[in-house]
Parts: sequence; C-alpha cells; structure tokens
Amino acid sequence: THEMSHRVLLLGAPGAGKGTQSKRLAAEYDLEHITTGDALRANKDMETEHGTPREYMEAGELVPDPVVNEIVEAAISEADGFVLDGYPRNLSQAEYLSEITELDVVAYLDVSDEELVRRLTGRRVDPETGDIYHVEFDMPDDEAVRERLEQRDDDTEDVVTERLRVYEENTEPVIEFYRDQGELVEVDGEASPDKVFERLSELLE
Ligand code: AP5
Repeated sequence: THEMSHRVLLLGAPGAGKGTQSKRLAAEYDLEHITTGDALRANKDMETEHGTPREYMEAGELVPDPVVNEIVEAAISEADGFVLDGYPRNLSQAEYLSEITELDVVAYLDVSDEELVRRLTGRRVDPETGDIYHVEFDMPDDEAVRERLEQRDDDTEDVVTERLRVYEENTEPVIEFYRDQGELVEVDGEASPDKVFERLSELLE
C-alpha cells in the first residue's frame, strides 16, 4: 500500500494546464475539484456588495477577495480531499488559505509566456461536460462534441494580455511565498498532458 496525499494545490499562470490536470487528478484519486474560476463562471451575475463577478472576469481582473475566500472556505469545509485550482491568486488569499487548511502537495506548473498565449487563444470548452480542448493540440473525435465547443469570453487576445499582467503582479508573489516555505515542487508544464499527469501522480503517491 502507499500513503496518499489528499490536499493538493496546483499553481500556475492562466493557461498553464491547471484545469486540465485538476480534472484528471480529481477523477483518478477521488478528490473534490475546487476551482474558483468555474465557481465564479457559474455565478457570474451574482450580486455582491462588490458588484458581480462578471465585471471583473470580463476585464481579466481579480474578483474581490471576500467573494472568493467565502467560496473556497465553504468548499474546503465539505471536502475530504481536494485539488485546489485558481486560488490563491494573491498574498492575502494565500494567508487566508493557510488559516483554514494545511496542504500536502503544492505543485507549480511552469510554462513560458509565449506558450500560454498560444494555449489560451486556442482553448475550447465543452459546455455540457466542462472538458477542455485545444484547436491545435487536442480536439475531440466525436463530431457532435466538436460542433458544440465554445470559446471562453476571457480568452480573447486583449483580455489574455491583461490576465497575464495581473498574474505577474499578484500571483507570482504567491509562488515565492510557497517556495520560501520550502513546499513548492516545480513541474515542467510544457511537457505533454500525459507526462505532466504522470509527474503529478508521483507527487501524490
Ligand atoms: P480561472 O478560470 O482560474 O482561469 P485561469 O487561472 O486564468 O486559468 P485557466 O483556466 O485560463 O487556465 P488553466 O491553467 O486551467 O489551463 P487549461 O487546463 O484550461 O480564472 C478566470 C477568472 O476568474 C480570473 O481572471 C478572475 O477574474 C476570476 N478568478 C478566478 N479565481 C480567482 C481568485 N482566486 N481570486 C480572484 N479572482 C479569481 O489549459 C489551457 C489550454 O491549454 C487548453 O486548451 C488545454 O487543452 C491546453 N493544454 C493544457 N495542458 C497542455 C499541455 N501539457 N500541452 C499542450 N496543451 C495543453
């Protein structure tokens, strides 16, 4: 038997492959996939005292911390084991997270800026299953699925540029935060999806 780690944090820039890998890890290891991006997309028009998530997301900006912190805290309190994807995105969220849970694995998917832009602008999503594809690297065989694929509102080139800027300013310090604590494991995010998955599986087992 092998000892399993159940509380996993996946860090990486927009387009690094967090969603792709989190979905697979959650299915393979029977973990909850906690993703603030999907949760916010499902509640884009929710009225909060800070406005709606949509206003921030369509501009590529961060949704205010109180809104996201609440989503994550509720999800973590109900989960036995989880893969956390898209959070924390700034130091204040990282501090909040450290108050509500411990982590067993913190993995950082490292991908160059050039590759990130290529991945984001070519990404397509199946609205029925949430499965993630790419026009060049990974299209579904099923024609019916191919025809219903959609592009995310924030995957246009100008919003992608802003998301990468916001990432550099707010989220890169979070990578350093975990590196300083000696918890960060770097994974080559430019390898094939199967290779990245293999490497992450090794970390979990
Ligand atoms: P969110 O939904 O979290 O988006 P993101 O972080 O920008 O990440 P992405 O989903 O774009 O990328 P990913 O790393 O999951 O890549 P994927 O696997 O899809 O956030 C969206 C917005 O919500 C934010 O801008 C913000 O407004 C708000 N928000 C969310 N969380 C928040 C928070 N905590 N605080 C405040 N605001 C928050 O892969 C990308 C593409 O590459 C796909 O096409 C895929 O097929 C392809 N691909 C994946 N892996 C590989 C590979 N190894 N080789 C080749 N292609 C690959």
